[in-house]
Amino acid sequence: MKNMILFNKPCLTGKEFDYIHEAIGSGQISGNGQFTKQCQSFLEKSTSAKKCLLTTSCTDALEMSAILARIEPGDEVIMPSFTFPSTANAFILRGAKIVFIDSRPDHPGVDERQIEAAVTERTKAIVPVHYAGVACDMDVIAAVATRHALFVIEDAAQAIDSFFIDATKKRIPLGSIGEFGTFSFHETKNIQAGEGGALLINRPEHIERSEIVWEKGTNRAAFWRGDVDKYGWVDIGSSFLPSELTAAFLYAQLEALRTTQDRRIDIWNQYNDGLQSIFQQAKLRAPYVPSFATNNGHMFYAVCESERIRADLIAFLRKKDIYSVFHYQSLHAAPYFQALHDGRDLPWADAYSSRLLRLPMHPELTNSQIARVVSGITDFFNSP
Ligand SMILES: Cc1ncc(COP(=O)(O)O)c(C=O)c1O
Repeated sequence: MKNMILFNKPCLTGKEFDYIHEAIGSGQISGNGQFTKQCQSFLEKSTSAKKCLLTTSCTDALEMSAILARIEPGDEVIMPSFTFPSTANAFILRGAKIVFIDSRPDHPGVDERQIEAAVTERTKAIVPVHYAGVACDMDVIAAVATRHALFVIEDAAQAIDSFFIDATKKRIPLGSIGEFGTFSFHETKNIQAGEGGALLINRPEHIERSEIVWEKGTNRAAFWRGDVDKYGWVDIGSSFLPSELTAAFLYAQLEALRTTQDRRIDIWNQYNDGLQSIFQQAKLRAPYVPSFATNNGHMFYAVCESERIRADLIAFLRKKDIYSVFHYQSLHAAPYFQALHDGRDLPWADAYSSRLLRLPMHPELTNSQIARVVSGITDFFNSP
């Protein structure tokens, strides 16, 4: 156990227990209390979103977006195949048809230039996923959305504290660009609360309804503010809000955002520097951050030459007590969806599914552990 290098470890920042005690002492542990408001205003300030609502997961935030965009049976929604099932499920639950697009050859994110050809009269939304916290080209996506009057819902599950750099070199926080943006605070993310998420609402006209959908279809949030004198059932909705215990934990994590981020980026750079000779020999493909994107240190991935090499490398590292993992399996080929897919080949999504490898990444990795991972990989490729 002592020598084991875990792929992920949920790390505490120090204040989590204090804040949870404080929440319990406050007499309100259900949702939408003081810590929820503090987290929401932290995220509103750091992203310039018009409104933020905490959710129990990114999955919930995506489901809220689908309701708020009034997705209906028969609507089409465009998204990458190389993503987590929640990106698609949220829209399937409302009866949408999912149209999957391939990844970029240079990056696992969606190939923005293939989106417009997939737009039909039934298309209602585009869901870009900022894979590894690296932005999609939001200028290209926004232009397609404007031309065809589509919603843009950014799946920013991995993209806290990361930015899109537009043509004027302005850094725009991910999640704040489309109509809606969704974050995950699952324990594998940079900022975590065990399970947790947030929805960013970026257009004022969606704010009122978002609070209703969040609170089980009732206008309870308006009632607590004193805007209405009684509350009742006014729309569809669900129980999307987390308890104050989750919000208290999350607030401690958010307060330490800078420290966490600095360490993660340092780890990312140490991997990148340490593996340069392997990358130059083209034995592994390095992660790529396009000039319009920033790196938030969410993930260090590399692309192997084949699925076989990836499996051998994972097994080789495992023998050295180093846990590396692969990631998404293309959704167009997933057991649930393959019969529904329109048959287009999506070769890059398949390539990343079979060849992408993720290295251990959490803020408590020590420099000597990082060096052990680098030398493990170097040994694998350089041993005869
Ligand atoms: C791109 C993407 N979207 C959504 C999710 C779902 O997040 P959550 O576990 O917070 O529901 C994940 C989970 O890792 C993800 O990678």
